[in-house]
Amino acid sequence: MVTELVPAAAFPLQSGLVPRGTRTFVFESIFEVFLLLGTLVGIVVVGYMLYNAYKYRSGSGNGHIDDGDRLVLGELPSGSGGGRKLFTSFFMSMVIVVSLVSWTYLTLLYVEEGPSDAESLDVEVEGYQFGWRFTYPNGHTTDGVLRVPADQPVQLTITTADVFHNFGITELRVKSDAIPGQETETWFTADEPGTYTAQCYELCGAGHSYMSAEVIVMPPDEYEAWYANTTADNADADSATANESSLRPAVAP
Ligand code: CUA
Repeated sequence: MVTELVPAAAFPLQSGLVPRGTRTFVFESIFEVFLLLGTLVGIVVVGYMLYNAYKYRSGSGNGHIDDGDRLVLGELPSGSGGGRKLFTSFFMSMVIVVSLVSWTYLTLLYVEEGPSDAESLDVEVEGYQFGWRFTYPNGHTTDGVLRVPADQPVQLTITTADVFHNFGITELRVKSDAIPGQETETWFTADEPGTYTAQCYELCGAGHSYMSAEVIVMPPDEYEAWYANTTADNADADSATANESSLRPAVAP
């Protein structure tokens, strides 16, 4: 439970081979690496195909093959150059696939485990039909509004008061089950202050589609000022919002 804030500079978006930073950044890196490699492999494969199509195009003397090398019906190609081409292509595919798999595994391991606990803000999330309650380290609770500082990892411990729910903030690439009697952990970091929407992603009853919460990412100093004024007995501005959220469209169970 650490409440002091980590300066943005102490939270670099990238270090070394495996991307570190916000979940958005990590998932974007995975997408970019796959896009780049896929494009490169595509260019090589399609290029080689076009090259051969041109080389062996119809016409006399194009891509001449000695009569001795010409395949006869039923014969399997042995691969030219003593199978060297075949070996090279298998070897290169292996290198690419193995590095891609290990890199993606390490990257997703980071997404799974999150940044070190020491620097994160711990918030407990409780889903109920139909809303979200948040509890801060000092015992302060809010309903329907989650305020967090920018550039600091937020560690969420998620559970539910009744049925299965699923807490997700798509823009921040975070999503986790809320299971009765169990706690699930996940984390996120938001580097851009602003308002995001958390939504329930598990069909949980007639009010499922209204089961959302506001995620307000504040500049760290503003958050600190707000947090300093919160208490366990909830004497703060968010109580008003909590009342509002109970005025959402009434849905019969
Ligand atoms: Cu809670 Cu859907």
